[in-house]
Amino acid sequence: PVLVVDFGAQYAQLIARRVREANVYSELVPHSMPVEEMLAKKPSAIILSGGPASVYEPGAPTIDKSIFTAGVPVLGICYGFQVMAHELGGDVDKAALGEYGKTEAVVDDATGILDSSPSLQTTWMSHGVAVNKAPAGFEVTAHTEGAPVAAMEDPSRKLYGVQWHPEVKHTPLGQDLIENFLHDCAGIEADWNARNIIDEQVAAIREKVGDARVICGLSGGVDSAVAAALVHRAIGDQLTCVFVDHGLLRKGEAEQVKHDFVAATGIKLIAVDASKDFLDALKGVSDPETKRKIIGEKFIRTFEKAQRQVIEEAGAQGKEVKFLVQGTLYPDVVESGGGDGASNIKSHHNVGGLPDDIKFELIEPLRSLFKDEVRAIGTELGLPDEIVWRQPFPGPGLGIRIIGEITKERLDLLRDADAIAREELSKAGLDRDIWQCPVVLLADVHSVGVQGDERTYGSPIVLRPVSSEDAMTADWSRVPYDVLATISTRITNECRQINRVVLDCTSKPPATIEWE
Ligand code: XMP
Repeated sequence: PVLVVDFGAQYAQLIARRVREANVYSELVPHSMPVEEMLAKKPSAIILSGGPASVYEPGAPTIDKSIFTAGVPVLGICYGFQVMAHELGGDVDKAALGEYGKTEAVVDDATGILDSSPSLQTTWMSHGVAVNKAPAGFEVTAHTEGAPVAAMEDPSRKLYGVQWHPEVKHTPLGQDLIENFLHDCAGIEADWNARNIIDEQVAAIREKVGDARVICGLSGGVDSAVAAALVHRAIGDQLTCVFVDHGLLRKGEAEQVKHDFVAATGIKLIAVDASKDFLDALKGVSDPETKRKIIGEKFIRTFEKAQRQVIEEAGAQGKEVKFLVQGTLYPDVVESGGGDGASNIKSHHNVGGLPDDIKFELIEPLRSLFKDEVRAIGTELGLPDEIVWRQPFPGPGLGIRIIGEITKERLDLLRDADAIAREELSKAGLDRDIWQCPVVLLADVHSVGVQGDERTYGSPIVLRPVSSEDAMTADWSRVPYDVLATISTRITNECRQINRVVLDCTSKPPATIEWE
């Protein structure tokens, strides 16, 4: 893989994506990972990300110098570039002129990572520290007013650095720079694509599974559907899907999933109604992490219980189910604190919410992928658009969209409000513009209203439409006012306990997409 070393900015994630857009596989690692461990991953190249610190301050994050002599091509970006310059003996200090935002760079030598660049490039900068003098052995290939060394290279050691951010779209030629580094400077082939991922995974799954029986927890979402289709391609009828109705689904969802999925794939499906079990276990619980853990555990227990039925229906008596397929994605892993060194933002039900004594071995063929990559694989596997382009819906369902305790009445109320919002957004043709639109019930909050000349004291509904590329970052969607107005009027008219509809206009970060 190409390792993207995270120096603590949100840019690292973005760099990893851009590398994959260049059809090269990438992984994020924290800067605190020892260099030997990085090298043990046999990286084809290493990219050092930007970060908020200043290299000359005591305690600033850095990386052991040996990384630069390991023979692996290295690209330093922004802070990572300064670390490289500093560690190798260049002069790095407070910039005479800080540069933030759009900045013109003068390209002195259009070579290496700047191959084919025009002599002036528009770039996106964010630095108050500058490299004043490159380390010995480096050629300076670009400069700006505030950065005497804005790009540098030493092709003999395969070391490259750039002060600006090639990974952001505000640097129009940024992707070219990244591709120059990967393909030309580091000599890495562009062979990471949907078809190759499928071939690789199919082979790996066959080898792992042998002739064992496998079940897949199907939620109806894109991820589990693609995971199921992929495993089905590998092992055919050894796979049975189990769809669990946990009582936290949206209106009409169970029927729709059962019908669409079977119609599209022909994969065996068993539906289990476990709603009473889930709701009993969740009684009295309002803490989000506790909800997630309970739901994660209940899923597993339900799959364990479904085992016998799976075996019987498959006519595989005497066998047991050895593997459980889950549609876990890379962001689930990173945000659950499972990425190397990542902190736990929330325990995605299928990662941090799993019980310790789980009896199945897991198969998670999408564990290193982003959502858009999963969609490409789904399409390549022949799944229809209705499945591939479904908006994401979290496994814990409406359970994490009721702020407060989950009860049947609250669920029914939220289901009605959610159905109205979904219907109106679809009618307005916004399904593809909006990544997803959680509808959230603030069940414990009450506010005063007036309906039919009478005072009401009801709960608010929050609309949370967001646009995003991969759910790691998101912006709130600018849904037209008249669409919002229709949704608001309909919800307050048709859901009597709701007397207020509010719009969540916060990006991620600082908020997450879901409220819990
Ligand atoms: P957040 O709320 O973390 O959500 O910004 C990012 C994306 O993940 C979905 N999500 C989940 N999906 N199990 C899932 O399968 C979970 O526990 C879970 N939590 C959040 C969320 O809907 C969004 O698309």
